[in-house]
Amino acid sequence: MDSELLQALREGGHISGEELGKRLKMTRTAIWKRVNRLRRLGYEIASSPRRGYSLVSAPDLLLPEEIEPGLHTRVFGRSIIFYHEINSTQDAAKELARQGAEEGTVVIAETQTQGKGRKGREWSSVPGQGIQISVILRPRLKPSQSIQIPLVAGVAVAQAIAEVTPLKPRIKWPNDLMVGEKKVGGILTEMNAEIDRIDYVVLGIGLNVNTPQSLFPKEIGEIATSLAVKSGGPVSRVKLLQSFLEEFEGLYEEYNTFGFQTIREKWKAMSNTIGAWVELSDVDGGNMKGKILDIDSDGALLLQKRDKSIERVLAGDVTLRKA
Ligand code: BTN
Repeated sequence: MDSELLQALREGGHISGEELGKRLKMTRTAIWKRVNRLRRLGYEIASSPRRGYSLVSAPDLLLPEEIEPGLHTRVFGRSIIFYHEINSTQDAAKELARQGAEEGTVVIAETQTQGKGRKGREWSSVPGQGIQISVILRPRLKPSQSIQIPLVAGVAVAQAIAEVTPLKPRIKWPNDLMVGEKKVGGILTEMNAEIDRIDYVVLGIGLNVNTPQSLFPKEIGEIATSLAVKSGGPVSRVKLLQSFLEEFEGLYEEYNTFGFQTIREKWKAMSNTIGAWVELSDVDGGNMKGKILDIDSDGALLLQKRDKSIERVLAGDVTLRKA
C-alpha cells in the first residue's frame, strides 16, 4: 500500500529516496517505482537529484490512498476498490460479494455510466462532484429484517453530513437524504438471500456533494441539490466519506448488538416524515393519502388515512403535502 509513502511525502518539504527507503524498508528503486505509480494516479511529485522527492499536489479523487489515512474504522473501508468509471458500483460490489468479498468492502466510482436508483430509476451524477459507493454487508439477520439496514445507513449518512457541514439534513422515508425541500442523496439496497438467511446485502449510496446547481438536468434540479450549494462552499468528499464509514460502523455494531430500537429512535429524530401529511405511491403503483404516524419496530411506515384506518407500508415513495 502506498499510504505510508504518501504519509512521508505529506510531512512536507523534500525527502530523499534513500531516506524514504530506510523508513519504508525498501530499495530506492522500489521507492522510485511507487512514486511513479502515484504519479500515474494523478499525484504531482517533484524530484530533484540533490533534494529528493516532494509532493506538489494530490488529485481530487476518492482514492483509497486518500481515504485510508485518518479513517478510524475496524471493518468498513478497510478494503476499497476504486474505479474512475464503471457501469454501476452496485454490480461490481455484487460480483465481489458473490466471489466471497468480506463485509465492509467498499466499491467507489468517480463516474457511473449506468447508475441505478430505487425502483429501477436511473441515478445520474456529475464526475468528480459526488460520492458513489457500494458497501458489502453480511448481516446475520432474517431476510424480513433487511428493510432496517437502509434505515441504519440513512442515519449514518445524515450524521456524517451534520458532522462535516453546517447543514441539518433530514431523512425522508425510507432513506432520501434531504436538505430543506431538496434531495441531496439516496440509498439503494440490494440483497441475495435464502429463505431464512441473508448471504449478502449491497448498500449503494449516492450523494450530491459539490455539484453546482446549474449542472443538474432541469427536471432533476427542481427536486435535487448538493451539499455545497446548500452550505455555500465546497465540501471535502474524503472527510464526508470517512465520517460516513465511521458513523456507519458504530451504528451497525449498535444495531447488531441491541437490535433496531435505538436506531429507530435516532432515525425518527432525524426524519422529516413523522407527523407529515403525505401522498404515498406504493410498489404496485397504488396511491394513498394520509398522515405518517410512526415507523414501527420493524421499520415499516404507519400511515393513517383520512378514514382513520392505519396502513402498514414496507416499500414505496412519499411526497410531503400540506395538511
Ligand atoms: C435513490 O434512488 O435514491 C438511490 C440512489 C442510489 C445511488 C447509488 S450511487 C452508488 C450506487 N451505485 C448505483 O448504481 N446506485 C447506488
